[in-house]
Amino acid sequence: MSLFRKKNVEHMLKASAESAGLKKALGALDLTFLGIGAIIGTGIFVLTGTGAVQAGPALMIAFLIAAVACCFAALAYAEFASTIPVAGSIYTYSYATLGELAAWVIGWDLMLEYGLATSAVSVGWSGYLQSLLAGFGISLPAAISAAPGALPGVTTFFNLPAFLVMMAITALLSFGVRESTRINNIMVAIKVTVVLLVIAVGAFHVTPANWHPFMPNGWNGVFGAAAVMFFAFIGFDSVSSAAEEVKNPKRDLPIGIIASLAVCAVLYVAVAAVVTGIVPSAQFANIAHPVSFALQMANEKWVAGFIDLGAVLGMLTVILVMSYGQTRVIFAMSRDGLLPAALSRLHPRFATPFLTTWLVGLFFGLIGALVPLNVLAELINIGTLAAFSMVSIAVLILRKTHPHLPRAFRCPGVPVVPVLAVASCLFLMVNLQPITWIAFVVWLVIGMFIYFGYSRRHSRLAHAPHEAQPHDVH
Ligand code: ALA
Repeated sequence: MSLFRKKNVEHMLKASAESAGLKKALGALDLTFLGIGAIIGTGIFVLTGTGAVQAGPALMIAFLIAAVACCFAALAYAEFASTIPVAGSIYTYSYATLGELAAWVIGWDLMLEYGLATSAVSVGWSGYLQSLLAGFGISLPAAISAAPGALPGVTTFFNLPAFLVMMAITALLSFGVRESTRINNIMVAIKVTVVLLVIAVGAFHVTPANWHPFMPNGWNGVFGAAAVMFFAFIGFDSVSSAAEEVKNPKRDLPIGIIASLAVCAVLYVAVAAVVTGIVPSAQFANIAHPVSFALQMANEKWVAGFIDLGAVLGMLTVILVMSYGQTRVIFAMSRDGLLPAALSRLHPRFATPFLTTWLVGLFFGLIGALVPLNVLAELINIGTLAAFSMVSIAVLILRKTHPHLPRAFRCPGVPVVPVLAVASCLFLMVNLQPITWIAFVVWLVIGMFIYFGYSRRHSRLAHAPHEAQPHDVH
């Protein structure tokens, strides 16, 4: 039964209250900005092209479907976040509610979310950097411009810019550079400005005829695109990771999560409408910088240049936030004994998990350099959707096991909304490709081997029973 041993919620809350050190400085608006900073990135700037090819102009609907799914999951997420405001994201929450094995699976899934997302965003960054350089007449040799197999008919070996940007961010993180609220706010301003520029300038170049046929691949195309474009919304959950630094987490966290999601949904639908209105959707095939491409096609070369620059700057934050999230999840799992202790050792001078940061950076940097973006995006989505489904189930369980725990934010319409969250996540999952499912299952099996071969015996709860829920001590 040790598989179901849980962390003691009250104990965790007390520990969190005592953990002075972290300044409680963030409010709802900061959180919304933090969310937007983590959300807007490769999804809208790059995958929009893939989505347009798949769904046609109905990409707008695909975005809405993904947004609705996220919204259900976000409401469940928000209840969690406002109940147990401790660092460590849903891995920690699930440890207290679903038990150790489920927490392990979620933590393992989160590596697909945060870790692979850094790889994916580095690929997107590379696409825009190359478009920006092309504006100055500079082009990289094809061999080092993309992952093998990324461009049909072109021999490519290694995405060098993607790898280098990951190394740069890893270096910053390992020396203790954290994303500061100020820098994030500047980056958000840049990204939102770029997106608004696309909408405002692009709107004048829309040819409504391009919106026909609206759904060239029928609903299948739309649902498939929704499953991929879900990627564009990933990141709203990073708001909850800031829980311990929020002034009034019970009120501000839910506002931050939901507001950032809503702002992005509106912007995405508008961008989808504009770019598919400028260029016939089929022309986006294999374009690594579709948003600036649309403006180039509209002969707005300067605006396209600004978009390239804004995307290159803006995507840096996404990599930073996701890498940070990844290292902290591994840190938390290691502190709990589920991963080797060396992974939570802090550097004596920089006070960062130095080893973990570099291992993560190198590993996911190489993945970004060697795996095409579409493959990465689907894998990230399946891992994240699985994790979100589990969170929604956890909300239901927590209402039963801890009915009296104070919750400033209660997910409305329980059990309907969490059930809808699970259903919509599963729906998007079944619309991903079979190969993605196979890779996901392989990933889970590897995770199971590690859990049963190592983590279960080394778990801290096996050695510190007072941290577990009393009836779960075995
Ligand atoms: N939502 C993030 C992006 O689009 C992961 O890059």
